[in-house]
Amino acid sequence: MEERKAAPRRVKITDTTFRDAHQSLLATRMRLEHLLPICEKMDQVGFHSMEVWGGATFDSCMRFLNEDPWERLRLLRRHLKTPLQMLLRGQNVVGYKHYPDDVLTEFIKKAVYNGMDIFRIFDALNDVRNMAKAMEVAKKEGAHVQATVVYTISPVHDVEYYVKTAKILEEMGADSICLKDMAGILAPQPAYEIIKEWKSNLRIPVQLHSHYTSGLASMAYLKAIEAGVDVIDCAISSMALQTSQPAVETMVAALEGTPYDTGLDLKLLSEIAEYFKEVRKHYQEFDLASKSVDVNVMIYQIPGGMMSNFISQLSQQNALHRLPEVLEELPRVRKEFGYPPLVTPTSQIVGTQAVLNVLFGRYKIVTNEVKQYMRGFYGQPPGPVDEEVRKMIIGNEEPITCRPADLLEPGLPEARKLAAPYMQKEEDVISVALFPQVAPKFLQERLAREAKVDMELAAQGDQVYPA
Ligand code: CO
Repeated sequence: MEERKAAPRRVKITDTTFRDAHQSLLATRMRLEHLLPICEKMDQVGFHSMEVWGGATFDSCMRFLNEDPWERLRLLRRHLKTPLQMLLRGQNVVGYKHYPDDVLTEFIKKAVYNGMDIFRIFDALNDVRNMAKAMEVAKKEGAHVQATVVYTISPVHDVEYYVKTAKILEEMGADSICLKDMAGILAPQPAYEIIKEWKSNLRIPVQLHSHYTSGLASMAYLKAIEAGVDVIDCAISSMALQTSQPAVETMVAALEGTPYDTGLDLKLLSEIAEYFKEVRKHYQEFDLASKSVDVNVMIYQIPGGMMSNFISQLSQQNALHRLPEVLEELPRVRKEFGYPPLVTPTSQIVGTQAVLNVLFGRYKIVTNEVKQYMRGFYGQPPGPVDEEVRKMIIGNEEPITCRPADLLEPGLPEARKLAAPYMQKEEDVISVALFPQVAPKFLQERLAREAKVDMELAAQGDQVYPA
């Protein structure tokens, strides 16, 4: 009998260099002028997609770089044929709180109009109601909807939980599913088990996103590949590792000659790596990520940023010696809060409360965010909330049970008023709706800059016509 050989099943790669890699390594400071010159080469590689927008980049463009995030998207689209991908925080869009549906809807419409192909949509609590509107709009606009399940470790987050959540998202119309390990805590074996179950229970392609922080990620990728994962997220080597993604080149080399061969050209990739090695030197002041593996991530299963937050919060109170108590308190608080994944914004909410509990007694002082969390304004926690703790925090108030954004008034009319003096295009209104503190200042400065250029041109004798 003839032996049946498995057909080659190429693994595809999403490159994250233009978004997550510099968000993780360089405080999201990479400027467009350093991205555009390498676009042509990036296009030749044959990436499944490039993650280039969303996450913190939108905010950072206006806040730190004096760059219009919409202009960035347009220019990247003009320079790249590779499918473009963005990270969308569900109802939080590209910000840190829930926005009303009109803002979310216009944001997605304009993102598609300006060239976005793939929307990776997630919610910090994996509350699918906070993802539903974004998925519906992106789908209607003809984009690819990649629904995302955030990975965390807790008694309620077993393989069954991940399968159940992913199946709901598939039924809601997801075109693909991503497992998102923002903290870099996904070990090889659970990666294998979750992806294996996803592949046998889902019809749509499956993608894996991890961070190298603990050094586990490339092993987790390999096990996920053996379990059938379709796409993995990597960054070009000179922008990889540490708190960023595994390196593209490592995965390409590891899979070469196997049934999973990516078919990507290592020589071309090394030219791109050389380019970013030079570019990275421009951002040294932001290049502060730990140069070695972060063991705390493995011991406490918390993201790297949390430990440094604890240290700075405790130092301010002259209480650094109480760090061990905080690290003991954290899992307790997390359990009482129904095991939220520790990602923005829940990591800050839970972490700060753990510090306050240690310093001032349990729930003697609570933050406003904690009250809102207990009132249900972030969504449904994955596990049951400790009702006694809830009572200590909000008394006899009844938590809401609806989707939080159902209670929000439309945001665009107010933003339109605020944007009016500086507005040049519809997208400016969305920028203002998302970041009412930051965007107007940015738009005002943009106008001033352009007026200055006009005056200089006029001074040179060029005629300037009002547009
Ligand atoms: Co990430």
